[in-house]
Amino acid sequence: MVTILVTGGAGFIGSAFIKYMFKNHGDIQIVNLDLLTYAGNLENLKSIEKDERYRFVHGDICDRELVSGLFKSSAIDSVVHFAAESHVDRSIRTPDVFVKTNVLGTLSLLDAAKAAWQTGEDAYKPGVKFVQVSTDEVYGSLGAEGFFTENTPLDPHSPYSASKAAADLMVKAYADTYKLPVNITRCSNNYGPYQFPEKLIPLMINNALAHKPLPVYGDGLQIRDWLFVDDHCKAIEMVLRNGRPGEVYNIGGHNERTNITIVKTILEYLGRNVDASIDETLIRNVQDRKGHDRRYGIDSAKITAELGWTPETGFETGIVKTIDWYLSNKDWMERVTSGEYQHYYEAVYGGK
Ligand code: NAD
Ligand code: TYD
Repeated sequence: MVTILVTGGAGFIGSAFIKYMFKNHGDIQIVNLDLLTYAGNLENLKSIEKDERYRFVHGDICDRELVSGLFKSSAIDSVVHFAAESHVDRSIRTPDVFVKTNVLGTLSLLDAAKAAWQTGEDAYKPGVKFVQVSTDEVYGSLGAEGFFTENTPLDPHSPYSASKAAADLMVKAYADTYKLPVNITRCSNNYGPYQFPEKLIPLMINNALAHKPLPVYGDGLQIRDWLFVDDHCKAIEMVLRNGRPGEVYNIGGHNERTNITIVKTILEYLGRNVDASIDETLIRNVQDRKGHDRRYGIDSAKITAELGWTPETGFETGIVKTIDWYLSNKDWMERVTSGEYQHYYEAVYGGK
């Protein structure tokens, strides 16, 4: 029996990963350490919360006593580290919490893993692994041509991506200096059920259903490479099992779209299936995001060649699954958008 410490498992991708792992593996235990910030929601884990292989711990990855205690009490074999402040617009307003959670929180986990797993200088228990779940945003922004490879120099622009790059470099330092067995994954934009409606796709679905304006930053021609969340989970599982220690793996959907195309796709589907008055007249080109990256595009040849990963869910299927999920879970959306979300929305979009 292998025990995995998942951090941030109540968030969008972490919760999908826990469900994915329980569905595909009988012989694992998962300890989920999550602070339950605005983005963490135990409702996302309802389907597995009673599974006897699962344990939830409410706490902060920066709490070193708590984290090292978990390694002592639970004989952790691997860490899959999702916990983070994850939204660029929030990072522009409050960078400090991004540095605390994303950088210092990662360091706290690295120290606890090293202390618990080390058996001698440069020697570790067999089979242990620390997976840092990172983002393509650490590479910065592309022009019209080319893709990010694992060798692309880091050039983050937002406080979010800078904090993730700093965390990645600490993970690399622990591999280089102490030989801690690590992998870093760098994935493109995820979409799917349970994504918090501060991100582009669920925000647009939510606003369109309420006939509220759809705020498209700048000209809307920025490009993101969208990947269905379960394909990301499968990639992380492959890296956890078979990734070569010390290596970075890029993960991407081969699915580049402009933001305006995404918004129009959502409007077209909702107009056809829900209410014909949901249409492009809702689109508003608002003031651009500060430091907005123009294009992300991932070359994921390495993970395909080494581990055999390829995405399974095409965008046309994935976006319909996603929109249908939000249509069937309006109560979830209502609960996550009451309270703090209203203040957030007013602060970010009020003046735009
Ligand atoms: P999310 O914001 O939905 O969830 C983050 C989770 O971390 C929440 O459950 C939150 O409660 C928890 N958390 C925050 N601070 C914490 C702390 N101090 N201690 C413990 N838990 C804490 O994020 P997500 O979209 O699920 O992203 C997960 C990870 O994947 C992040 O590291 C992010 O950088 C990375 N990533 C995300 C995307 C994407 O498109 N969403 C793409 C590539 C990589
Ligand atoms: P987002 O989902 O925040 O992901 P990221 O910034 O990490 O890529 O945004 C995706 C793209 O959509 C990005 O180019 C910013 C743009 N965007 C808007 O145009 N309007 C919005 O209201 C939001 C949230 C994002």
